[in-house]
Amino acid sequence: MFGKWRQKLHLEPPVGWLNDPNGLCFFGGKYHVFFQYSPDSADGSGKKCWGHYESPNLLKWQFAGTALSPDIPEDRDGVYSGSAIIADGKMELFYTGNVKESGNHDYIRSGRGANVIRVSSPDGRNFSPKKVELKNSDYPEYCSCHVRDPKLWEENGQYYMILGARTLSDEGCALIYSSKNLDEWRFEKKMSVPDFGYMWECPDLFSVGRQRFLSISPQGLKHSDTKHQNVYSSGYFRAGKGTLKHFEEWDYGFDFYAPQTFEAPGGRRILIGWLGIVDSPYTNPTVSAGWQHCLTLPREITVSGDGAVLQNPVCELERLRGTELAVLEGECKHIPLPCELSGKVDGSFELTLDGTLTLFYDGKKFRLAFAEGGLGSGRTVRNCAMEACRDIRVIADMSSLEIYLDGGRKVLSTRFYPDGEAVALHARGISLKGWRLNGMEVDIYGK
Ligand code: FRU
Repeated sequence: MFGKWRQKLHLEPPVGWLNDPNGLCFFGGKYHVFFQYSPDSADGSGKKCWGHYESPNLLKWQFAGTALSPDIPEDRDGVYSGSAIIADGKMELFYTGNVKESGNHDYIRSGRGANVIRVSSPDGRNFSPKKVELKNSDYPEYCSCHVRDPKLWEENGQYYMILGARTLSDEGCALIYSSKNLDEWRFEKKMSVPDFGYMWECPDLFSVGRQRFLSISPQGLKHSDTKHQNVYSSGYFRAGKGTLKHFEEWDYGFDFYAPQTFEAPGGRRILIGWLGIVDSPYTNPTVSAGWQHCLTLPREITVSGDGAVLQNPVCELERLRGTELAVLEGECKHIPLPCELSGKVDGSFELTLDGTLTLFYDGKKFRLAFAEGGLGSGRTVRNCAMEACRDIRVIADMSSLEIYLDGGRKVLSTRFYPDGEAVALHARGISLKGWRLNGMEVDIYGK
């Protein structure tokens, strides 16, 4: 019914459109993945709601329906992005209620309401009435009306909320609020970096070990051959006392934006991103079949001994491994989708898929290149500077590749649209081994 590009390892909207992951948490024995969802249109023009998937193990998923839709004046033009926090045995959801006033407005400096709204749930299925926690007049006077995407956490008995914002002088920044009870909020501080975009979306402040990170999705960064190649970016700073340093992109591929992290049982920090982006010159042909976009695989974030941030697919996915596959150096073989392949890198290599999509490393730079008219639906070339690359691991789904390089130091994600359920893979300068993967169990009809 959905055609050949329906994914088997990635969460997609049952129908319609998906963008950012929202409200990620583990609660009541289950993982909860909410997401920006427009069930009524695949092109992103419909009303924004929160869709909801639940899973006991990150492998078996059930669609739990539309959790939140615009139904009060304060969120009438969209239940925008937000997060979950577990407090006093309840799931507390905080999101941005988007309001567009009618009239002659630019919707940057006037005409837009950005309300932080809270909803409580005892079980992730039933929700309390909505309560407005913050509105435009509660934000610092230097803010434009672009203030959104609350992410909450608790620290030393105090709750905190971070919001992304655009100032009146077009500076991207994050705002931090604190609260004792999730209900009365006090503005603490603004975080920003000179000359770093005009808007920061989807901020997330979290720690891995002793290192604190600020993840943001900034808009308006300068593009170069190896950096910030997409229309909008997404990455993290290392946050020190009053400092934000060494911005690094989460993903160098064509399709990645607005990630969010959460802490899983056992203390794992897991990141899920949107395997998509808006306002790009390339497209996704699934729209004509009634849906568009998916989330990334859940990625565990760790810090290596030398301080590098590593992203790797959560280990649960190893349970999907089926029959073994191998493509030895010099061979060209048809490999089934979905699959996982990895290999040791010795200096340089080139992998070609269906003769038109090339993954190339020359000892200095990794390059992902689609030939014109090939599998990329308008995607061209993405580069990632790497002085060393010891290994590559690729997780290929029916219409996406996630490429993990050098132990997860760099990642590139892209959609691709092959003709069938297998691709011809030609390996030069590298041998790959791996597995055919079984699909996740996803019940999109839910209950
Ligand atoms: C990021 C974003 C968020 C916003 C949401 C609306 O992709 O623009 O800032 O809350 O999408 O869908």
